[in-house]
Amino acid sequence: MVELAPSILASDFAHLADEVRAAERGGGTVIHVDVMDGHFVPNITLGPPMVKSLRKVTSLPLDCHLMIENPDDFIPAFADAGADWISVHYEACRHLHRTLELIAQHDMRPAVVINPATRVNFLVEILPMVHHVLVMSVNPGFGGQSFIPNALTKIRRLAELRQEMGLGFRIEVDGGVAKDTIARIVEAGADLLVAGSAIFDNGNAEENARELLGLARQASGLKA
Ligand code: DX5
Ligand code: ZN
Repeated sequence: MVELAPSILASDFAHLADEVRAAERGGGTVIHVDVMDGHFVPNITLGPPMVKSLRKVTSLPLDCHLMIENPDDFIPAFADAGADWISVHYEACRHLHRTLELIAQHDMRPAVVINPATRVNFLVEILPMVHHVLVMSVNPGFGGQSFIPNALTKIRRLAELRQEMGLGFRIEVDGGVAKDTIARIVEAGADLLVAGSAIFDNGNAEENARELLGLARQASGLKA
C-alpha cells in the first residue's frame, strides 16, 4: 500500500496544527519531521519540542528524519516527545547497528537513510533490523530541490533485496516528490512518499495531498 508522508518543513509553522490537519484531510497518513543540526547538513530546523507539540495535534505516526551528527545523544528526547519512527543517516552513524538497536529499545521504529552518493549495498547487513529504508532523492538540507533520477535505480535495487532476503521493510523516498515525479517513483517500488513543497507551497495542502495520493495510487495499480 502506498502512503503519503507530508513533510512539515515546507509548512507555515505559525499555523502548524492547521497545516497538519489539512494534509491529513487530503490523505496524508504519516507526518514527516525533518530535524537538521547545522552540522550534518547546512541548515537548522527543529527538535524534540516541536515533536511534542505535533503529538498533541495528530495521532498519525510521526516520522522523524534525523539529519544530525551523534543521533544517539538525542534518541531518548525524541522518544519522550512522542516520536514513532526514527530514521538516521548511514553517513552520520559510526556504529549504525548500535544506533538502530537504541531506537528499538526506546519503542520506536528504526530506519536508515542514504544520501544520493551512498550505495544501497552498504545496507545489506542491517536490513533485517529496519522498519523502512529512506532513499534521499535530493542532497539533504533543504526543501524544494529537484528530484535526482538515480534514486529510481536505488529503489529498484532495494525492492529486489527485500524479495531476495525475504524481508518486509518499507521503501521511503524523500526529495523532489511532486506531481511530475511521483508515478515513476511508485513504479520503481517505493511505498512511503515524502512530499514537502508539493503539498504546502501554495497554501492548499488538502487538495495537493489528495492529487498526489491519487497519482501514486494510480501508478501502484498500474504496477500490479
Ligand atoms: C530535505 C528533507 C525533505 C524535504 C523535502 O532534506 O529531508 O524531507 O522536506 O522537500 P521537498 O518535498 O520540497 O523536496
Ligand atoms: Zn526528510
